[in-house]
Parts: sequence; C-alpha cells; structure tokens
Amino acid sequence: MSDGQTLRHATADDLSRILDIYSHYCLNAVVTFEEKPPSIETMAARMQAIAGQQLPYLVATDSEGVVLGYAYASQYRAERTAYAHTVEASIYVQHDKLRFGVGQLLMTELLTHLHTLGRIREVLAVVPEDTTGVGRGVEHFYHKNGFRRVGLLENVGKKVSPSVDCVVRVHGEFELD
Ligand SMILES: CC(C)(COP(=O)(O)OP(=O)(O)OC[C@H]1O[C@@H](n2cnc3c(N)ncnc32)[C@H](O)[C@@H]1OP(=O)(O)O)[C@@H](O)C(=O)NCCC(=O)NCCS
Repeated sequence: MSDGQTLRHATADDLSRILDIYSHYCLNAVVTFEEKPPSIETMAARMQAIAGQQLPYLVATDSEGVVLGYAYASQYRAERTAYAHTVEASIYVQHDKLRFGVGQLLMTELLTHLHTLGRIREVLAVVPEDTTGVGRGVEHFYHKNGFRRVGLLENVGKKVSPSVDCVVRVHGEFELD
C-alpha cells in the first residue's frame, strides 16, 4: 500500500468518480460485460440496493481524498431467496493506478467486512476472462485473495470477437457448511 491511501464507505458524493473509473472498463475492456457506461442514476440505484442489503460498498482514496478504486458486495440473484447467504464481489481500480496496492487494500477490507457480518456463506467473483488486457492479472489477484476457480461459463459474452468465457470463482473461507 502506498502512503496516504485510505478506505471508507462510499457515499452518493463518490458516484461521479466511481462512474469515471467504471466507464473506462465498460468502454475499453472485457472485464465487465457492460458495454455502455451506465447513467449516474443507475449507479446510484445500484449503490442504494447494496445499502439496502446491508452489504459493504467501499472506496479507496489517495492522500488528497481522490477516489482511486472501489469494491462492493452485492446479493447474488437477490430475487431468489435461497441465495440469501451468497454475495458477489466486484472491484475496480482506476486504470492508470493499477499495481499500487489499491485493489489489495479494498479486497482485504471487503472480505473482512463480509466475515464480520457472520451470515455470508459464499463469496463469488464472476468475471469475464480477459487474457489480453487488464484482465491478465486478475487470476493472480483472485488466487492471492483466496478465491479458487470453480467453473467456466463458456462463450457467454461477445463484447469483442471472439466470444469470451466468464470465470466463476468462490472464496474458500466462506464455505462454512
Ligand atoms: C484486479 C484489480 C482490482 C487489481 O487491483 P490493483 O490495485 O492493480 O492490485 P494490487 O496492486 O493491489 O495487487 C494485488 C496483488 O495482485 C497482483 N496483481 C494485480 N494486477 C496484476 C497483474 N496485472 N499481473 C499480475 N499480478 C497482478 C499484484 O501483483 C499483487 O500480488 P503480489 O503482492 O503477490 O504481487 C485491478 O487490476 C482492476 O481494477 N482491474 C480491472 C477491473 C477488474 O478486472 N475487476 C475484477 C472484476 S470485478
């Protein structure tokens, strides 16, 4: 971690920075299958939904308070109540601030927070497999953070040619019973 990076819970005031960070990946990478950046209202609704689920939405900031990345957990298939103990982790670091420890800081705190909730049984990361761009480091990142690959949704996305697989990862420590 670089000096001055801090973590806090995200607020509505962070939405425009969060959208800036996310838009880059929508437009330039395979790591999200969202192709068009969402509106700020959509991002706000997503943040509110996570707050309503009492799940964490974190931002990491630099020493001047500028948001460098964000991570959140969302209820997996929230409309299906049997999934109530399963969440999906998402994390995005500003594209020109990678490899400075921001992602590690966010993921460590996200997992710690989920542990303290005491009601989460599975933490999933369902991530399009990008073997050419920023996604190259994702495998190492998730492995280092305790996730293991449990499945592959083959050819489910076609953001660019050819079709792209989606890797399903699960965090081992949450597999309680
Ligand atoms: C994945 C991501 C969050 C990592 O964030 P980061 O701030 O660059 O990662 P860190 O600097 O904290 O690195 C943490 C660990 O992951 C490793 N890592 C991160 N990027 C890597 C890369 N491109 N290649 C190899 N290892 C990488 C680091 O080496 C470090 O491990 P180490 O201590 O053993 O060296 C970031 O690359 C990102 O936002 N990617 C785009 C969005 C995305 O793919 N999100 C996942 C799907 S939601």
